[in-house]
Amino acid sequence: MIGTRRPYAVPRILCIFVLVPILIFFVVHVFEYTPWQRPHNVKQPQNVAHNTTIEKALVVVAKALKDIRWMHEVDPTWTRYTYLVTEDSLNPSSDISLSVPVNKGNEAMRYLSFIIDRYDTLPSIIAFRHGHDKSWHQQLHSATEINHLNLTTIRERGYQNFRCTIFDGVHRHDCPDDQKDHLLHDGKTFWEGVEPETKDTYADNWDAWFGGPRPEYLMSACCAQFVVTRESVLRRPRDKYKEYRQFLIDTDLHDYVAGRIFEKTWHVVFGMPPVSCETEEECMCEVYTPPLGCG
Ligand SMILES: *[C@@H]1O[C@H](CO)[C@@H](O)[C@H](O)[C@H]1NC(C)=O
Ligand SMILES: *[C@@H]1O[C@H](CO)[C@@H](O)[C@H](O)[C@H]1NC(C)=O
Repeated sequence: MIGTRRPYAVPRILCIFVLVPILIFFVVHVFEYTPWQRPHNVKQPQNVAHNTTIEKALVVVAKALKDIRWMHEVDPTWTRYTYLVTEDSLNPSSDISLSVPVNKGNEAMRYLSFIIDRYDTLPSIIAFRHGHDKSWHQQLHSATEINHLNLTTIRERGYQNFRCTIFDGVHRHDCPDDQKDHLLHDGKTFWEGVEPETKDTYADNWDAWFGGPRPEYLMSACCAQFVVTRESVLRRPRDKYKEYRQFLIDTDLHDYVAGRIFEKTWHVVFGMPPVSCETEEECMCEVYTPPLGCG
């Protein structure tokens, strides 16, 4: 009958336009935060860590679990390990973070702890990454960079920073052939360029930590995201990594500065020369598979 209101019209409209969206929102978010929807199961790799058959490990240091959802997109052949830079990392039975002795030294504390804890049964290849998916200091999404690594090159080199661009605006292609030992771009030596608070640390420890005289020039790609092989890690005894970590535990330097001491020297730790003059193009070509690299 024209003009007669259907008794349930209003509730039905309410239902479609209000309750259904609320329900969808609720379901999506509840699922997003339930434990089985976490970026990955942290516990499981922790337990199989001492199985030397692990070929490739991805060690990620994150500020929060929600930052590392991108780890889903990483090829499943990588075994994942997560460290949080929070108090969770002080609890050895935490199921969201692997543990460290002290919550200091940012990612350096975590990278060193991973090496120390698994020194006898290291994976063949270890990728060390920050928790962010994108950053000014990386060219692409994290999962893209990891999935496109040319592992033949990584095995040959033993160590490789994910970044093919050297230090804040200083590019490898600016490195003149006849001056390979005489950089930086702006004419400064590395030692003029480092944070003043760290100079004494380098001066006091270089020989003990890295062996040999302190080089005058040193270049490294910012910012502590790299891949390293088991062989390169094993070039130094476990006690040496403990010594580096003990420095981070004992130091009064601010975390921001203390972590940077290793950020600038990881390549030296793993046996690379202090300066590399490879161009950015050469590096991309060899370090990544197509379409990023040449293949
Ligand atoms: C190590 O992993 C391999 C392959 O996944 C498995 O066959 C083997 O039983 C594991 N060994 C130990 C001691 O867990
Ligand atoms: C990886 O790099 C090597 C040279 O180091 C090259 O021969 C090979 O084709 C590359 N593989 C891929 C898949 O890009």
